[in-house]
Amino acid sequence: MTQNKVKGATILVTGGAGFIGSYVVEELLKYDPKKIIIIDNLIRGTHDNMRNFFNNPIVEFIEGDIRDTDLLEKCIEPCDFVFHMAALRINACAANPRDGFEVMIKATFELAELCVKHKIKKVIYSSSASVFGLAQHFPTPETDNPYDNQTFYGGAKLWGEQLFRSYKFMYSLDFAALRYFNAYGPRMDTDGKYTEVMIRWLDCIKDGKDPIIHGDGSTTMDFVYVRDIAKANVAALMADVTDENFNIGCGVETSLKELLVALLEVNNSNLTPVFLDVKTVNPVARRLADINKAKNLLQFEPNVALHEGLKELSEWYFEKKRRENL
Ligand SMILES: NC(=O)c1ccc[n+]([C@@H]2O[C@H](COP(=O)([O-])OP(=O)(O)OC[C@H]3O[C@@H](n4cnc5c(N)ncnc54)[C@H](O)[C@@H]3O)[C@@H](O)[C@H]2O)c1
Repeated sequence: MTQNKVKGATILVTGGAGFIGSYVVEELLKYDPKKIIIIDNLIRGTHDNMRNFFNNPIVEFIEGDIRDTDLLEKCIEPCDFVFHMAALRINACAANPRDGFEVMIKATFELAELCVKHKIKKVIYSSSASVFGLAQHFPTPETDNPYDNQTFYGGAKLWGEQLFRSYKFMYSLDFAALRYFNAYGPRMDTDGKYTEVMIRWLDCIKDGKDPIIHGDGSTTMDFVYVRDIAKANVAALMADVTDENFNIGCGVETSLKELLVALLEVNNSNLTPVFLDVKTVNPVARRLADINKAKNLLQFEPNVALHEGLKELSEWYFEKKRRENL
């Protein structure tokens, strides 16, 4: 049995008001931590995401920016463990690489320095499948090379992984990096500038408009449900692993066309897709994770299949829209 390392621990979650971060906080709360500190500037995170634990006395929410190094130090100082999840989206990095540099690279560097200074026992770093660009093999193992990535975001995530590797080597800072594939589920951003395609299609279903696919819909992704990702995060903390990268996906390849058909099915919708020109920041045509390493070393098992996850996403989306219209 793995030791419960969360019990009695003080834990920082950067970006804990965000989509995945809020589920990581909920998952951690099941294991009896002493305290969870969240730092989030709410650029995308929301109070609503934190609804289930906002009034829990164990959780302290600090509205602030990880670029504020003094504030970050105050957050890290009392902690045993750090989940580093605050980041800009891939499109936000492309739109403003300088912001991308400051948040994804500089603030992550300061965070690593502070983790060494304050003897953090382990960092769980949110990396991304974007580090691969278009991978060489499908399913893609962690060992595929990252030289085909073309995005600033993917480059920044890879740099973060390498930063933690070097800090493990130089300063014995333990870490695990989780390369999420395509995360989805309730609490996905529905109104921001960079919403995901599923949300744009749900908007179409709500408004009775035919949903748009940019390209021919053959681009594939590996969709992984947000609660499964949260479990992988906690497992990466608990397991006796360090200096490792893990793919966190479902191990199932789904084309955008198949995704749309599934989303229409779970919503009993008879709208028909409209195909328009390709329009994307991320030029990757195919994604499929080899998740054997996470299965073997973290006992990671994706539990939520696509139809079930899309159903939960849809129910949450329509309930949210209903509340907004009250
Ligand atoms: N969603 C995905 O499909 C996916 C895939 C791969 C990797 N990731 C990574 O997982 C992590 C969580 O992603 P998410 O999908 O929950 O995104 P998200 O945008 O919902 O969460 C990120 C959070 O960080 C906060 N944040 C951003 N900049 C900040 C700053 N300067 N200071 C403080 N807080 C800041 C945002 O307000 C947000 O709440 C990120 O590191 C992301 O890059 C996500």
